Amino acid sequence: MSFKELGLSEPILRSLEELKHKEPSEIQEQAIPIILAGKNLMAAAQTGTGKTGSFVLPILEMLQERAKPYGKNVHALVLTPTRELAAQVRESVNTYGKFTSITSTAVFGGAKIFPQKSKLKKGVDVLVATPGRLLDLVNQKAVKLDQVQILVLDEADHMLDMGFINDIKKIISMTPPVRQNLLFSATFSPEIKKLAQSLGDELVEISAQAPNTTVTKIKQVIYHVDKNKKGDLLAHMIEDEQWAQALVFSRTKHGCEKISNHLNAAGIQTGTIHGDKTQGARTKALREFKEGDVRILVATDVAARGIDISNLPFVVNFDMPTYPNDYIHRIGRTGRAGQEGTAISLMSVDEHKFLRGIEGLLKIKIDQTSHEAFKPTDKPSAGGGDSRSRNPRGRNPAFSRNNRSSDSKSGNSFSKPGGSSSRPSGAGRPGGSGAGRPGGSGAGRPSGSNAGRPSGNSAGNPGGNKKTGSKAKTRWKKT
Ligand SMILES: Nc1ncnc2c1ncn2[C@@H]1O[C@H](COP(=O)(O)OP(=O)(O)OP(=O)(O)O)[C@@H](O)[C@H]1O
Ligand SMILES: [Mg+2]
Repeated sequence: MSFKELGLSEPILRSLEELKHKEPSEIQEQAIPIILAGKNLMAAAQTGTGKTGSFVLPILEMLQERAKPYGKNVHALVLTPTRELAAQVRESVNTYGKFTSITSTAVFGGAKIFPQKSKLKKGVDVLVATPGRLLDLVNQKAVKLDQVQILVLDEADHMLDMGFINDIKKIISMTPPVRQNLLFSATFSPEIKKLAQSLGDELVEISAQAPNTTVTKIKQVIYHVDKNKKGDLLAHMIEDEQWAQALVFSRTKHGCEKISNHLNAAGIQTGTIHGDKTQGARTKALREFKEGDVRILVATDVAARGIDISNLPFVVNFDMPTYPNDYIHRIGRTGRAGQEGTAISLMSVDEHKFLRGIEGLLKIKIDQTSHEAFKPTDKPSAGGGDSRSRNPRGRNPAFSRNNRSSDSKSGNSFSKPGGSSSRPSGAGRPGGSGAGRPGGSGAGRPSGSNAGRPSGNSAGNPGGNKKTGSKAKTRWKKT
């Protein structure tokens, strides 16, 4: 089906043509008609499969036909968990809406509030916001929410989770009771689904792929390594395999800086993104990374959700994520829009419990290996090493376990049959194109060398994560 057949009009089709988005992704094909029909929707689809367009495109289409907002009013409100994602979604509204008269802005913390207030004065069609700053602006009477017609929760499961739910409830109470609710995420738990159903009447639920699954084109490997050797192993892999770029996740802000210093000392250029940095520094670091000017970005989970970095070849979990759903989002920064990618997780002996949770949620076995030069020697500490998962952030532990619903169907919007297992083991760079990235086309793994890759591993081919019931499907043409 074409975008035109989905009911989108000329100005929007023009921007899609300019972007070379030739056909809708699976989630776009499913979601756009439902949204245009005015229904409440909860949509799940894997990372990097075009969920942003799934809500932005029909919103633009609908608002084109409606009266313009006036006096601090907003017609569509999109809430995101992070500042960077708010800016990115607003950018998508701008890009997709380039040939329409739709107005939009983004508001988020860490940036000066006055310019945000002045942009809201005349009202905007689409406001993208983080909850905290939006509430500040409402309290300062800089924006009115009583004419909101469409409410979107991007990364919905996260927005309805402990950290955000109170702000979200407050914001919702300020919007009209009759409005269209749209919820999108790559992960949903049964608990969050229940909460979502309470937002409005007749929530239509769609799922482009089996819920809580990862894109088959992302090759996943776990490296067993001693905790104090992780930095050396990472530096070794980056240099030895000539990684063009990698996004490295650390559990803590302090950890980010430590990893960054370690890599810098090894002569590897890095940037960092975490909550202790100014917004200016965060924005700059992400921009430079997206533009390929910085080779390694070290981040906390602030960069895990929704951030779209095209052609990113590697994601590294320097620390195993505490929650399995975070694993899905983190590794989903690679392998986007049909591209291939590699996700490497460095696992020390005290982190095995997290792997169990991840494999339980994903219903796959992730290949495990160790590096010849960094064989682990640490033993589990008495009574503590491999214990059951903790719940430090007070989240519902159910979501850190296996929660897949039974009505799922498998598939991947972008991947060609064969998926990740078709990638030659040890290739230093997915896709092989290298366009526009430092390291260029020669950034692959030195040919004929086994350096830095599973050596003598017991886990077999690291390119073939064992997955059950997954059928790959080609949906997007590469452009
Ligand atoms: N129909 C399409 N054809 C080609 N590329 C597309 C299409 N729709 C979206 N894309 C591109 O795919 C990439 C991923 O899209 P998007 O960020 O919307 O993914 P997502 O599903 O929201 O992922 P996440 O779960 O990580 O938030 C973007 O670079 C986007 O421009
Ligand atoms: Mg998204």
